[in-house]
Amino acid sequence: MIELNNVTLKYRLLHDRSFSLKEKVINSLHKRKYTEKTSEEFLALDQISIKISQKERLGIIGKNGAGKSTLLKVISGILKPTQGTVTVDGMIQPLIEIAAGFNPEFTGRENIYLNGYMLGFTPQQIKAKEAEIIDFCELEKFIDVPIKYYSSGMTVRLAFTIATSIEPEILLFDEMLSAGDASFINKAKSRLDTLVEKAKGVVIVSHDLNLIEQFCTRCLVINAGKIEFDGMPIQANKFYKDHL
Ligand SMILES: Nc1ncnc2c1ncn2[C@@H]1O[C@H](COP(=O)(O)OP(=O)(O)OP(=O)(O)O)[C@@H](O)[C@H]1O
Ligand SMILES: [Mg+2]
Repeated sequence: MIELNNVTLKYRLLHDRSFSLKEKVINSLHKRKYTEKTSEEFLALDQISIKISQKERLGIIGKNGAGKSTLLKVISGILKPTQGTVTVDGMIQPLIEIAAGFNPEFTGRENIYLNGYMLGFTPQQIKAKEAEIIDFCELEKFIDVPIKYYSSGMTVRLAFTIATSIEPEILLFDEMLSAGDASFINKAKSRLDTLVEKAKGVVIVSHDLNLIEQFCTRCLVINAGKIEFDGMPIQANKFYKDHL
């Protein structure tokens, strides 16, 4: 269903040459301006090859900066690999960084529509989902308030609910629940359960090892852009705790 062959992804990092304070002062006295920039390549994914078949539920764990989100973005087609090939058979909706696509000046309700359009829904289709979304995230009182006044947990509730209001064949999740409170997380998990049951395939990135054990049938441990472990979630969690 998903096949990655020797996938490598390099980011280009741009940074200003750094000057010492003394150099800065001297430069300003001599009215010289250095705008020299250096650029460097960063290897975020290093020759990744995997095959995920139908009905498999893949978890991806690893330290901050390991390359998990990058891998998900490559699978979803948001990023093109520098080398290698990605083949996906099935309707995929990148439910990644939904909150990053929110406009802080817009109200919760307006953001539901904004995201709906971005996911390709018609106004009628979004209208049909609107009430259920507002009800599930329990933000009735705040739904017409600009989301810049939301707490991070409230934003997570809205983003998670929007992301899970569609039923793609292949579900991709990236750490969506991190700021939710316990009562919402429980509710969210049962909603996730229903979606996971219906989906042909699931890929979940999370730092929550229990969630991975609960939902996944297979788990990758990623480190520095490489797959270091591929197997049962329980063993993957043990490998991660022991080696990283
Ligand atoms: N747009 C970008 N430009 C340059 N470098 C990037 C970019 N996005 C990510 N990186 C780098 O690629 C590496 C992998 O990032 P990625 O976001 O995939 O990590 P992650 O495993 O999802 O981490 P986290 O657990 O913190 O979410 C990091 O070193 C990061 O700095
Ligand atoms: Mg990430």
